[in-house]
Order: sequence, then C-alpha cells, then structure tokens
Amino acid sequence: MRVISALSLITALLAGQVAAAPDKLIIAGQLLDVRSGELHAEQAILLQQDRVHSIMPVNQLSTEQQQLPRTDLSAYTLLPGLIDMHVHLTANPAQHGYRRLQQTPARQALFGVTAAQATLQAGFTTVRNLGAAGFTDVDLRDAINAGEIRGPRMRVSGPSLCMTGGHCDNNLLPHTYQASSDGVANGADAIRAKVRSNMKYGADVIKFTATGGVLSRNTDVNASQYSLAEMQALVEEAKDRGAIVAAHAHGLRGIKRALEAGVHSIEHASFIDDEAIKLAKRNGSYLVMDIYVSDYILQEGEAAGILPESLAKERTVGQLQRQNFRKAVKAGLNIAYGTDAGVYTHGLNARQFNYMVQWGMTPLQAIQSATLHAAELLNWRNEQGQLNVGVLQAGAYADMVAVKGNPLEQITLLEQIPVVIKGGEVVKTP
Ligand code: ARG
Repeated sequence: MRVISALSLITALLAGQVAAAPDKLIIAGQLLDVRSGELHAEQAILLQQDRVHSIMPVNQLSTEQQQLPRTDLSAYTLLPGLIDMHVHLTANPAQHGYRRLQQTPARQALFGVTAAQATLQAGFTTVRNLGAAGFTDVDLRDAINAGEIRGPRMRVSGPSLCMTGGHCDNNLLPHTYQASSDGVANGADAIRAKVRSNMKYGADVIKFTATGGVLSRNTDVNASQYSLAEMQALVEEAKDRGAIVAAHAHGLRGIKRALEAGVHSIEHASFIDDEAIKLAKRNGSYLVMDIYVSDYILQEGEAAGILPESLAKERTVGQLQRQNFRKAVKAGLNIAYGTDAGVYTHGLNARQFNYMVQWGMTPLQAIQSATLHAAELLNWRNEQGQLNVGVLQAGAYADMVAVKGNPLEQITLLEQIPVVIKGGEVVKTP
C-alpha cells in the first residue's frame, strides 16, 4: 500500500500536479501585478528551481520559508521579465544594405551571441525572433537553452517566407548571381512545403511578408505580396502544426488580406485604417507596431549602409505608423510590444515604451503590451495550461526585472533596468 502511494506521489510529482517545496526566495519592496495594474508592497516570491512556486506577503512566510536562501530586493519594484515580440538577434544593425552580403549565417550566429546578452541585460527575458537566414535563430535558442551562452528565452521563426522578389528575398544582386533567400516560396503547395520544412528544422512560429518593406531593395511598402489563397494555405498549414503566424505588413491591402487569412499578428501595421482595425478586433488579432525604430533609421541609417531608397520609404511610413498606433490604442486593439531590434542596436529595446506612452498608451498599457499581452500572443503555456512568461504567478518561469521607483509614474525607468532575473537566476545586478 505504502509503495503504491509513494509511486503515485512520484508520478504526480513528475506530472507536475504536486508543487514541490520552494527552494529560494525573492523579496520585493513592491510587486506589480500586470493583470490588475496594482502594486503590492512587501511581497515574497517563492521559487522552485526555475519556476515561481507561490507569491505571498512577506509577513505571511512560515518560519521554515524564512530560512530559505534569499535575494533581497526590498528597495525595488519588481515586474515580470519583459518580452520583445519582434527582434532579429542575428542581425547586425551596423551592416545594412549591401554590407549584409558579406555576412555568412555562421557570422550572423556569432554576432547573435552578443546581441542575446545585450537583450537579456536590458531586461528582456523572452524574445520572438522573426526572420533569420540559415536557421541561426534556432541554433541561438538551443545554445541558450543548453546553458552554453546567456540570453533571453527565444521563440523563433527561422527564415521568413515570401514570394520571389518579396521583402524577405535577396533583391540586391542582378540575375547573373541567381541569389535568393531561404524562405522564398510561391504558390500554395510550395508554401505549405516551406512551412513544413521550417517546422522540421526547429521553428516555433511562422513569419511571412504580406507587403513590401522599408529595408528591402526594390519592394513597395504599399504593394501586397502573396494572394489570399497563398496566405490561407500558409495559415492553415501553420495552424495544423500548432504554430502562431506573424505577417509583416505595411500597406493596407496586405494588412486586410493577412487578417482575412487569419494571421495571429500583423507586424508594423503602418497604414492600417478603421475598417482593418475593426477586422483585427473581430478576429482577436494582435498588432505589433515598432514605432521607435523610425527615428533610428532616419538618424543613423545612412551611416549603417541603409539604401537611399529605403530612407525615402521610411519617410513615408514612420509618422503615419505612429498616428495609426494612436488610433489602434483608442480602438482597444490587442497590441504586443515589438521593436525590430537588429535594425537598430540590440539592448535598446526598452526605448519604445516612452514612444508608446507619447502616442496614446498609459504606462500600464505599455507594460502590459510587453508582458501579459505579449505572452498571450505567444501562447506559450506550461503543463497546467497557464502562461509560462509575461506574468508572475505559480508555475510560470521566474523571470523578472527590478527598478528603483514606480514605472507606472516614470516609464523611462525601464530604459535602465538594474536587476534582471531569469529562471530564478540573478543575471544582472547594479
Ligand atoms: N523591417 C521593417 C521593414 O523593412 C522595418 C520598418 C521600420 N520602419 C518603421 N516605421 N517601423 O519594412
């Protein structure tokens, strides 16, 4: 009898149904509940390995719990580790345009090691990497998970999909070179095969380009890429594999078509109008609008090799995108935080918070976009079906950042985060 109950206890433990005892303690001066927006004073976060075990007021800790090894952050405000839903960790922001041609995937992966560190040090404990040649993002994710290098948790897409000559293609060289990118696929069947192949080689997410882009040569931000039938095939195939779909789209036609095809998020969403906002709202789709990067492109882009035609395109996109961001916020759309870091310097991911507040969000909404709402879009869950990241609650990864002061009153505090904890491990101290 005893053997049986011991066995069933072990089985239950293995299945994660019984919470093992906590082994560590973090004391928070204040803890921000990103669901309610409330700040709770004097909280104890009990950890069990890399997960949150439970959270309670410090004065309710048992004598036994008080003995646990502790990290004392009683002078700080704690919140969940931040999430950037649109980065390119293997992209070097100093090498745009034709300079990109000199970069092998191996070189990009090596660059990604330092970019991953800078991103984590900035307080971003989870990122979604949307587009990497040669599956360098898969390798980077796996090296981080294996503990070989430090970096954020990564959800990755592998190479972005697009049509021949699309935003994800290599359009820099003439026909003689026959250059094309990993993710190019045309027609429903080829697109399905490409989705399958991306999943086979380790992608968690499917990214495709539904319009031209700013930084690609010879593409029009207003022109749609892929037919509705092609997008529908892509989305169906991805959903069959349980993958989230992110569509790059600036122009209105491409935005609407991608929404109609059922994508989970529109990246950039620059020229979105009221009708498309309604469509996104009805579908529950998210917008990931990178409203900081325009400043960087226009100020530093030329020196980094960004093509003159791209600078000209950016002048037609940046301000309108910000105005439309304001509209989307007013309409109450789902918005997740994404910056396109990699186009600009890694580790400056938090600069966008202040822009989001300038353009219509409350500081709490901006923080929710980079925690709770980003996590909901990621839809990355533990065995109990609860979010793994973006919230501090029992069963989630013990990922958090600490700032001195109240970020709800001063959002720019997030630009210089002094303490970062990932999986219960303190990876940055002041
Ligand atoms: N990767 C994007 C593109 O090339 C960057 C767009 C940046 N501009 C902006 N206003 N968000 O299209």
